[in-house]
Amino acid sequence: MSKFSYDVVIIGGGATGLRAALEVAKNKKISCAVVSKLFPLRSQTCMAQGGMNATLNNHPEDGEDTIEHHFRDTVKGGEFLNDQDAVEYFCEQAPECVIELEHMGMIFSRNEDGTIAQRPFGGGMFPRTCYARDYTGHILLSTLLTELMHNEIPIHSEWHFHSLIIEDGRVKGILALDMKDAEIIEIKAKAVIVATGGAGNLFQDTVNATSSTGDGIGIAYRAGVPLKDIEFIQFHPTSLAYKGILVTEAARGENGYLVNNKGERFMKRYDPKKMELASRDIVSQAIQQEIDAGRDVNGAVLLDLTHLGEKRIKKRLPQIYKLVKDFADIDCTKEPIPVRPAAHYLMGGIDVNKDCETNIKGLYAAGECSCINLHGANRLGGNSLMETVVFGKRAGEMAALYAENEPESKIDKSFAKEADEEIEKLLKRKKGTHYPKIKRELTKTLEENAGIFRSHTSLTKGLENLYKLKEQYENVILGSSEKCYNYALYEALELRNLLDISHAFFVSAEKRKESRGAHARKDFPLKDNKKFHKHSLTHYKGNDNPKVTYNDVTITSYPPPLEPKS
Ligand code: FUM
Repeated sequence: MSKFSYDVVIIGGGATGLRAALEVAKNKKISCAVVSKLFPLRSQTCMAQGGMNATLNNHPEDGEDTIEHHFRDTVKGGEFLNDQDAVEYFCEQAPECVIELEHMGMIFSRNEDGTIAQRPFGGGMFPRTCYARDYTGHILLSTLLTELMHNEIPIHSEWHFHSLIIEDGRVKGILALDMKDAEIIEIKAKAVIVATGGAGNLFQDTVNATSSTGDGIGIAYRAGVPLKDIEFIQFHPTSLAYKGILVTEAARGENGYLVNNKGERFMKRYDPKKMELASRDIVSQAIQQEIDAGRDVNGAVLLDLTHLGEKRIKKRLPQIYKLVKDFADIDCTKEPIPVRPAAHYLMGGIDVNKDCETNIKGLYAAGECSCINLHGANRLGGNSLMETVVFGKRAGEMAALYAENEPESKIDKSFAKEADEEIEKLLKRKKGTHYPKIKRELTKTLEENAGIFRSHTSLTKGLENLYKLKEQYENVILGSSEKCYNYALYEALELRNLLDISHAFFVSAEKRKESRGAHARKDFPLKDNKKFHKHSLTHYKGNDNPKVTYNDVTITSYPPPLEPKS
């Protein structure tokens, strides 16, 4: 077993983790390192296309945006489940964070006058999404990684996050597995920042990378941190049908239309004012209803960009042009693109306060794996990349401060020995269920029972399937006892996290008997502010059903509108 020691360890090589590391490294008294199962440039962030929201007021034509407008759009889009103190902080910090990126050298798209270009996104009153054509995530990640290298911050790539080391109610480090030989690595740390991203791979149809498997969420949950609002899962309205590829909202921001098999711009029936730029929950639900009513084209609707012209498409949406050509053999300058909703983003996650602190001393979380709650019941497009930077920075600042004032302490128990024995057992097991079988059944269960529309019947059916899958997992087999880059081992470990997150999801989703944002219940189609204007907190109880408790939502200046009396 190898041992390492840093003051702060950041888990995750996406934008949140890298931004957090840069902030920690500003404190020269503090040592830090990033641990990631992938080389950072392969993180899910590189698949983010559209952009990041900040009030810069750079759009040449459209009126005056304000921080207050960004705040109100975010809260309204989130159906008032957002903690408004977190939203205020986010909207205030966003412009400065964008300028910091510009100073790091991020290549944003520009207006004629050289200012950072901004375009409209769903649910926003103003064009406030800053972008780098439709490669924003990739460019952001490259910028942050270059900065990390300049600062000589160590990055341990291909180290798989195994568990947290917690003693006396405080974090003391983590265990990781070196993927090249399955060796357990003990990394002692005073503070740990979890920035491991989302869990789109709960579903068969997702636009997330295969690496989005909820690792940090599952590990923190089992370690005793509740999951907040985990029933809220966002479906992006426009994935390239059945290909698991995102077709950015920017395509609609650039004026693309959605039409059904009759050529009708159906959004006029669901949100006549905002049309294709309504918030994502509304657009996804509308597309699903068109498909369910038989107004589909092979299970999809059509995104028409042809009227934008070849020049504009190739200039503003070059990646979409290429992806659609390569993966569907469609020239989107001449033909519409078949699109359908697919799992995209978790609004819920590891429960943290607005300083990114969990209930365990020294343990922080930020980005998609966490729930502050910034996004409420539905996230606005463009607020996620911005969140990685604003709250990655905040987590880094807070963790560094904590570590600076925390005395050295030693790890008493042999966590590594226990983990090593568990891995050996897993590698050697010959009888049981092969992990891909459980994974296939799990994603099918979620796809069929936890999709855009849910009900008591679907959620209880999903939960029953899940019990069987959890039982099978007790004797999961890998099919290979190889230690060198044995992906079966890592996928089986990831599967455990997906199973535990699903368990939390089904129980909390069944208990939320209302429809709000991305949580649309067929049996409870209305919002119920009286009972459910609350955050759910789901607590891990092993194989028993998790316990769900509720917390108040923080309102500062924008109370939810009164509901009409029924
Ligand atoms: O559609 C998109 O480009 C996605 C953006 C987001 O989820 O923020």
